[in-house]
Amino acid sequence: MTQEQLYDKLIDLGTKGEIVPDRSLLKTPEQINAIKKSATLNTAILDHVAKHICAGMSTADIDKLVFDYTRQHGGIPAPLGYEGFPKSVCTSLNNEICHGIPDENVILQEGDIINVDVSTILDGYYSDASRMFAIGKVSKRAAKLLKVTEECVELGLAAAKPWGHLGDIAHAINSHAQKNGYSVVEDIGGHGIGLEFHEEPFVSYVAPKGTEMVLVPGMMFTIEPMINEGSPDFFIDEENGWTVYTEDDGLSAQIEYMVLVTETGIEVLTK
Ligand code: MF3
Ligand code: CO
Repeated sequence: MTQEQLYDKLIDLGTKGEIVPDRSLLKTPEQINAIKKSATLNTAILDHVAKHICAGMSTADIDKLVFDYTRQHGGIPAPLGYEGFPKSVCTSLNNEICHGIPDENVILQEGDIINVDVSTILDGYYSDASRMFAIGKVSKRAAKLLKVTEECVELGLAAAKPWGHLGDIAHAINSHAQKNGYSVVEDIGGHGIGLEFHEEPFVSYVAPKGTEMVLVPGMMFTIEPMINEGSPDFFIDEENGWTVYTEDDGLSAQIEYMVLVTETGIEVLTK
């Protein structure tokens, strides 16, 4: 499809009432190349964390791993200083849903589950992904949550198709979570990314199939559902203004992939 045909199609879909991305959200081949380099570094940082994370280390030690590795490879940790965030990575433990702040007094214990959310700026281009880690042997309850969360993201990814809708991804994720007795956090979602840390659109993981923005080749966004074992309700730490906790103190897990819509499918850029 030529650029002109693509723009005609967007106009046509728009007149039919579909939500279509602004043209500024469609990355050029040059931008895609540059963002892929950022994403490759982001994956390497997560691999570096995966190699070293263990019981007895503090979440501030994870922060140091991320900061040092990112700087040694020419990148900048995107969270550092972002809207006042004080560290280089988000570390969210057990009942923390997201945006946990690394702390030298928080020591990883056998049985913990933790989300490490790494975001990188390289040559001005942004990438973002997160993984769950089980510290040593974890409870059956925690292990099941991690397994189902991974299945949710994979099913969401499989449901994404060029010219489909963001809601198709949400539907796949939400129904699998519900089938397992879990809930999906509603008010915090994914986002467009690439030229900025957080771009349009907001990506819901509870929207119905066939709703929300059309997936147009050139779009980039994150698939990052937060799955709670109990209620989806949450509260934010009043002291630090960042850390999001489950209201009922249940466990929460999140996995984040950053993806690109192409003419033929969906490409995972970092995970
Ligand atoms: N990485 C998070 C996301 O997926 C954003 C964290 S914002 C920060 O959107 F400031 F806390 F880093
Ligand atoms: Co992230």
